[in-house]
Amino acid sequence: MKNIPRVKTGIKGLDELMGGGIPEKSTILLAGGAGCGKTTFALEFLYKGAKEFGENGLFISFEESVTELKRNLPFNWDLDALIENKKLLIVRYDPYQYEDILDLIRSNVKETNAKRVVIDSITALNLYVENVKDVRKLIMDINEQLGKLECTSLFTGEIKNDVPQQISRFGVEEFIADGIILLLLNPRGSELTNAILIRKLRGALHDKKMHPFKIGEDGIIVYSKEEALSESKVHSF
Ligand SMILES: Nc1ncnc2c1ncn2[C@@H]1O[C@H](COP(=O)(O)OP(=O)(O)OP(=O)(O)O)[C@@H](O)[C@H]1O
Ligand SMILES: [Mg+2]
Repeated sequence: MKNIPRVKTGIKGLDELMGGGIPEKSTILLAGGAGCGKTTFALEFLYKGAKEFGENGLFISFEESVTELKRNLPFNWDLDALIENKKLLIVRYDPYQYEDILDLIRSNVKETNAKRVVIDSITALNLYVENVKDVRKLIMDINEQLGKLECTSLFTGEIKNDVPQQISRFGVEEFIADGIILLLLNPRGSELTNAILIRKLRGALHDKKMHPFKIGEDGIIVYSKEEALSESKVHSF
């Protein structure tokens, strides 16, 4: 097994499932249904990167505004301090100006010296780019741009909770992504419980079990020693 340097997510219990973290300079698709924790996960990846690992981060939102993102964050993290110290940049792009996206990404990455980049979400691009072929091209171009800039990137993407087999919306994300992390909401009795599964990770040995996770007081906690048991058929994909 080659020894690819890893980028630690810093999310409790997760890095050990991936042999130490996300392979450096790769693109990960973080896929899940509505409200399963994608944005929270993605923000933690950048927060921990800046706070604990000395890597600056760029969060590109196509959905919530910067104010909404800060307000909805379930943790008492001082994002403003990181932003003031230029370790973190959160920007909301106007998806109507998608022609400029590549230039914006390049200048924002250079401005922040970002090593970690989040795009939240690539599904939202569909709202503004009519043709699926154009969305695919845009996603591929964004990925190529981030590769040239040598960033480790996380793209969030929405899948329908009831169809976990359908990982990508546009039929291209799962192929361009070097890895896929699935966030699931499993029915257990009358309750929905959070679970995480590393579905693919190119060039890395990784855990393939579904594990429970929860949104704790100070960050996400993945229970790496426990298996998530689901009453639904999500195991079958
Ligand atoms: N303090 C908290 N403790 C536990 N769970 C929480 C807390 N705050 C929010 N949540 C859960 O997190 C979910 C929202 O998380 P998040 O916004 O990260 O999900 P998402 O997958 O990005 O959602 P969306 O599909 O709207 O983009 C809420 O629906 C709620 O279930
Ligand atoms: Mg979200």
